[in-house]
Amino acid sequence: MNKRKLIQNIAFVVIAFAITGYIFIFAPKQTADDESLYKWITSEKEYYYYKHSPEILPSSKETEGAHDNFMRVRFNYKAAAVLNSDGHLPKGIMFPDSSIIVKEIYSEKTGQVELLAAMVKLKGAPNSNKDWLWAEYSPTGDVEYSVSKNGKACVSCHKSTYDNVRIFEIYK
Ligand code: HEC
Repeated sequence: MNKRKLIQNIAFVVIAFAITGYIFIFAPKQTADDESLYKWITSEKEYYYYKHSPEILPSSKETEGAHDNFMRVRFNYKAAAVLNSDGHLPKGIMFPDSSIIVKEIYSEKTGQVELLAAMVKLKGAPNSNKDWLWAEYSPTGDVEYSVSKNGKACVSCHKSTYDNVRIFEIYK
């Protein structure tokens, strides 16, 4: 094999790996494992805080201690696109696939974020529950609640007329 062919072959393999890797991590409808889900939510750079306010708020009593004391909720571009100008989800509208909502959880209002609770909309994905994937990670990606648990610890409390999202009826 001459040098040029060899380089062509190597380039082909590298590109093929890059494409299949991308599809594995980002393709909608595919069940993400914890590692790819964490990569996905942290690779999205355009997030919008609820009502465009970066303020860290107390978690409501409705969380019954399921989430720690303080929080800030953010939406990726896909999810934010369906919100109205007040930052609310209009009645009857559902979030589209690949919407990501992250609840940053803090134990102190002025402290560092300690936990990322995530809801990722992937209708029909094998690990989904009520059309969302549910998971919790430390800021560095340690799994605190695995996506493979199908959101069993989350959905009973996440009942809402707003596509299972609670914040709209709590902080209006
Ligand atoms: C006992 C109730 C309860 C349980 C259990 C619970 N949550 Fe929540 N969650 C809430 C409430 C209430 C809010 C709204 C914000 C607030 O009040 O602090 C919320 C907010 C969120 C948000 C921001 C979007 C929204 O719905 O407002 C995400 C993301 C989230 N929770 C993920 C999870 C995940 C993942 C689990 C399971 C591992 C879970 N939650 C379990 C009550 C709960």
